[in-house]
Amino acid sequence: MYIDDLDTPVLVIDLDALEHNLERYQRYFDSHGIGLRPHIKTHKTLAIAARQLAGGAAGLTCQKVGEAETMVWGGLQTDIMIPYNILGKPKLDRLMALARQTRITASADSAHTVRGYSTAALEWGVTLGVVVELECGHNRTGVATAADALALGKLIDSLPGLELRGIMGFPTPPAVRPFLQETIHAFERAGLPCPIVSGGGTPYALEAHLIPELTEYRVGEYIVGGEGHLRAGRHTVEECALRVLATVVSRPTEGRAILDSGSKTMSASTIPVGDGQSMGFIVEYPDARFYGASEEHGHVDVTACVRKPQIGERVQVLPVHLCPCVNEHNEIVAHRAGRVEAVWPVLARGKVR
Ligand SMILES: Cc1ncc(COP(=O)(O)O)c(C=O)c1O
Repeated sequence: MYIDDLDTPVLVIDLDALEHNLERYQRYFDSHGIGLRPHIKTHKTLAIAARQLAGGAAGLTCQKVGEAETMVWGGLQTDIMIPYNILGKPKLDRLMALARQTRITASADSAHTVRGYSTAALEWGVTLGVVVELECGHNRTGVATAADALALGKLIDSLPGLELRGIMGFPTPPAVRPFLQETIHAFERAGLPCPIVSGGGTPYALEAHLIPELTEYRVGEYIVGGEGHLRAGRHTVEECALRVLATVVSRPTEGRAILDSGSKTMSASTIPVGDGQSMGFIVEYPDARFYGASEEHGHVDVTACVRKPQIGERVQVLPVHLCPCVNEHNEIVAHRAGRVEAVWPVLARGKVR
């Protein structure tokens, strides 16, 4: 079977491009002595995670406990980092059950989180690895100063059931190096261990060597690309491995084409392009603008296209942001040069707890 025979809309992955991205980034991180810890939240499938591990990854990253359960229960009993504050008994019980089965490291940015980890670890009789999260410019989670990181590190080190494993941040552009250095020195002076210094994010991945203190790096979208990475010059069209195959279902006006891939296929993510927004890059029509969507309709401005798409024509679309896009799908069809080789269930889709 070939992807041209598939009903649309459907998410397809080009195995040659996937393997190329996997090797390219693995080679980079290997050459700089930095462990590559792929983030599975992008693809949410066992088959891709298994390929990443076989390709030399130092372990996996999962954003939620449910994603980690999917990996471990699916047979990938590997070294897993969950860079998230995990709170409340239901999740802590599941986290400790996982820590019984494999090596788990969770992050924390408050004494509240850390104390919860310790109480649960004691109750379950397990040791949980913990890294202190630093706020690295995303204005999300993480402690803001080296002094706060040190105080939290001391607390983790002092509490039963926990093993202080170092620090992490997201994203980690080269500019955050002084903050990392200051924190590492503070840990050293206090005699605290800091075996893990974990950076993350595809946009700065190939600059990780500019922070020699990094011991490992978490990347998700590197393996599939997407319109954001294409427009930023990080991935070529050929390197954008994961695409939506869609069909033109209507041409209501000369300047508008409607695809069968709306926000429930693409996700609602957009990026600014020119003076508007884009929901995806149409490979066959680079001058088209996928400017919006309703749930099941993709709205495309084809005014600038010399040749315009016809009703019934199929197109390949590079979504803006693959992580939420994948989360909309039950399966990914894997192909090589158009020939279908496998259908992978997106087992961790919807695992938000
Ligand atoms: C904590 C953390 N680490 C790593 C990543 C991976 O980022 P990317 O998909 O840009 O590689 C993310 C993405 O949101 C993240 O939140």
